[in-house]
Amino acid sequence: MFWYDKQEEHTTYMDIRRHHEEFPTGHVIDVDPDVQADFRHIPFDDETFDLVVFDPPHLIYAGPNSWLAKKYSKLDKENWPTDLKRGFDECRRVLKPSGVLLFKWNEDQIKFRDVIEAFDQRPILGDKRSKTRWSVFLKER
Ligand SMILES: C[S@@+](CC[C@H](N)C(=O)[O-])C[C@H]1O[C@@H](n2cnc3c(N)ncnc32)[C@H](O)[C@@H]1O
Repeated sequence: MFWYDKQEEHTTYMDIRRHHEEFPTGHVIDVDPDVQADFRHIPFDDETFDLVVFDPPHLIYAGPNSWLAKKYSKLDKENWPTDLKRGFDECRRVLKPSGVLLFKWNEDQIKFRDVIEAFDQRPILGDKRSKTRWSVFLKER
């Protein structure tokens, strides 16, 4: 959704699913990554990327017909802190030593500070007020 160019040539897109669905309203969901994989086990070597963009689902509560859940999927209600932490650690692992991790979060259901607590690392900068927050983390603590 946030890519100006959905096939940007320097970028490797990764998602756990492939999904195409068209709705009578005209809305379309099209998840078509280059690599289909789990962010808890990223299938790349250590220190591969200069920049990693981590944009996990932010919902834990959503009904089976929720448009947002279909579009962005959901986190596990019980295990989200562990799952996000594993994803965060994997993102850092595949970053080059001087690399940058860009993390996007929406505070709708889980507070940003609770996610940061799960990561056990603070961002060096980021939006501190908006509901949707972009933050920058470094590989090195
Ligand atoms: C907020 S959306 C990402 C939107 C994307 N950044 C964009 O610009 O369109 C979250 C995505 O994370 C994916 N996802 C959920 N669990 C995942 C996991 N364990 N590993 C990898 N991707 C996962 C979902 O399928 C969903 O497409």
